[in-house]
This record gives sequence, C-alpha cells and structure tokens, in this order.
Amino acid sequence: MAFQYFPTMEIQRTENDDEDEMFSVHGHAGNLCRDTILDKLKTMIRSTSMNKTDLPVSIADYGTADGRASLSLINEMIDVVQEILGKDQVINVYCNDQPLNDFNILSKVITGLVIMSGLRVDSNIYSVVVPRSMYDQCLPNNSLGLAMSFVATHYLSKQVWQIQNGVFFEEADDNEQSVMKEQGKADWRDFVISRGRELKPGGFLVSLNASVDEQNHVTSHIEGGNGNLGSFIFDMVKEDVITKEEYRAMNFSNHYVRTAADFMEFSSAIPEVVELGLEMVSIKSMKQYLKHPVFDIANKNETEKREYARKISDAVFPWLYHVFDGGLSKSRTKGERDMIIDQYFIRLKAYAFEHSDFKPYLIFSEVVIQKKHA
Ligand SMILES: C[S@@+](CC[C@H](N)C(=O)[O-])C[C@H]1O[C@@H](n2cnc3c(N)ncnc32)[C@H](O)[C@@H]1O
Repeated sequence: MAFQYFPTMEIQRTENDDEDEMFSVHGHAGNLCRDTILDKLKTMIRSTSMNKTDLPVSIADYGTADGRASLSLINEMIDVVQEILGKDQVINVYCNDQPLNDFNILSKVITGLVIMSGLRVDSNIYSVVVPRSMYDQCLPNNSLGLAMSFVATHYLSKQVWQIQNGVFFEEADDNEQSVMKEQGKADWRDFVISRGRELKPGGFLVSLNASVDEQNHVTSHIEGGNGNLGSFIFDMVKEDVITKEEYRAMNFSNHYVRTAADFMEFSSAIPEVVELGLEMVSIKSMKQYLKHPVFDIANKNETEKREYARKISDAVFPWLYHVFDGGLSKSRTKGERDMIIDQYFIRLKAYAFEHSDFKPYLIFSEVVIQKKHA
C-alpha cells in the first residue's frame, strides 16, 4: 500500500531563523550517539574495501528535519573519513525526510545559508536530499556505509486508529494502544529491513529512538507526564473552545513507548533479516534532561518561572502545532485557528509556571544493528 502522509509529521518552525526548534525539543539528542557513531564509522571503513578514493563512503540521516540537529556530527564524521582515507575520498551524505518536510530550509542549512557553517564543502563531498518515507527503501541495494536516525522512528507510517478520548498514546484505551503498537512493530521491521537492503556488508545502522527505559519511565516534558498535554486540549472541549469532532481529529499518531524487546523483535524470525545478515550489536536506554540554565534553578522567582514556562512551550510547540492545526475545522479562518492554538499554549505555560520545579526529560534507546559480511 502506498505511504500516507499526515501533516502531524511536520515540524513547525518559528519565524526566527536563529531559533533551533529541535534543540528546544530534545537538546540535539542525536549527539548522545556520537561516540557510537564515530566508532562504528571507523570499524566500517576498516572492515570493508572502502579504501579506494573513487568508491564513495556513503552516510545517511533518516528523518533529518531541517538538518541542524545532526549537522555538527556529520561534519565530524567527514573529518574521520578524511583522516583515515585521505582528503580525496569521495563522500556522499544523504539527508532523508518525509516529503512534507521543509526541504527548502534543509537546503539552506546544509549549504550554510542559515547558520554560520553548513556541511563541509569540498569538491568530493556530495550532499543529496532524499524526500521519501524512511519505512521504504530510499537508496540502492548495498550502497550505504552507515545509516543513522535520531528521534524519528516513533512517528508511525500511517494513522491506524483514531483515539476516541484523547490525543496521546497514554490516553488511548487498551484496544487503541494495541493497534498502535502493532503498527509500530510493522514500521520498525520495515525501517530495519529497508536499511538492511541499503547497507553494504560491514555497514551499520545506529538509531536513537523514543522509548521507555528499564524502569518503564517515559518522556515527560511537564510535571505529571505528557498525557497532561492532552488533558489541556480536553479542557478546551469542555469549555466549548473547540468541538468534540475537532478534538477527535487531533491524534498524535506515534509509538514512543517501545521497549528493548520491541526493538529486538525483528531479529531472527523474519527470513529477509537472516538473508540480509542483520544482527543486533547493542541496545541501551538513556535519559536526557532538557538543557537550559532555567531548568537547573531551584526556588525560581517569578521571572525565572516565566522563562521556565516559555522554554517548556518551546519544547512542545514544534511537534504539537500540526497535530492541533490538523484537527481544527477547515471552516475556521487561519486567524481563528492561530488564536485557538495560542490559547492552548497559554494554558500550557500557566501549568508549567505553577509546576516549575519539574525537570523535563526524554527517554531514548540507542539501537545498533550491523549487516554482517557474507
Ligand atoms: C522529532 S523530528 C527529529 C528530527 C531530527 N532527526 C533531530 O534529531 O532533531 C522527527 C522527524 O522525523 C520525520 N519523519 C516522520 N515520519 C517520517 C517518515 N516516514 N520518513 C522520513 N521522515 C519522517 C519528521 O518529518 C521529522 O522531521
């Protein structure tokens, strides 16, 4: 079946070009995998016959958004490749996202037009933008040395269910949750198998995924958990700010509570995984506290609480905006819709202001998979 694109996958940017939305959302969490990635890159180069300058070393970032979150890491990877194979080594850098992503901004980021410096530009480094679902195969068979993806695989490939009484996974009933989990399972398999086809033997997939940890902790941007983000929307239904139909249309179609077992599930039971020679190398969960000086201040004064509330709103706005906007009736004017969304974020900030001792955190699992040599 053809991939269906939903606007809830889009990341909303602010007007300010200097503002880095993904840093506000998760603090460029992909850098948590820095050591693993550089290590696997070196292993991959040394274990394959890639020491021929005319054969490209290819690396790819799946679900890259505007590219700013992985830019510095990719530049470091280029340095590592050049240190080992020399400055003449041809390097391909593939930047993937779903077709509704803002590739115009990505293009400006990688060419250095938005921030001070973009991707390293030497005549033998080629950046290629790949607008396609990461659940499909995006590159030719056996063409890739290292695949990476940060904070993207929780987005389901399609909306399989409408949560009746909520917006987020936590608010879904058992039946709704199990349908979303099944889709999450199919998507993870498709993601891994697609990368498995693309990777050269000896290549690696390093993916940082939203998940639970061993203690079953789940990402929480606000005191009381992210289910509260949905309850503020429900308050707006009760107060007739939005209709029940609009509320029902606001589903966040994501699976961010995968466990280690869920990431391992693809392994030996699927014939293609075995044929491709894919093997789990490691899996580890991580807790990342959001970074901003205001999150570390104890006994905040009024000004600090306001700043805290603003930073919490910044951490939620980029990914919740389209969920909200997509649910609001198309008969509403743009001005009306923006006013309602503003009202939501005023409520969120009021709650954050009152609960400003809470330190927001995210839970991830780093998964490393290798395509073994035959
Ligand atoms: C939370 S952002 C993370 C962006 C970036 N990797 C980072 O570390 O900040 C998730 C990204 O995944 C993308 N995404 C969602 N579904 C996708 C799909 N099926 N294929 C490719 N990208 C997808 C979204 O468009 C978005 O840019």
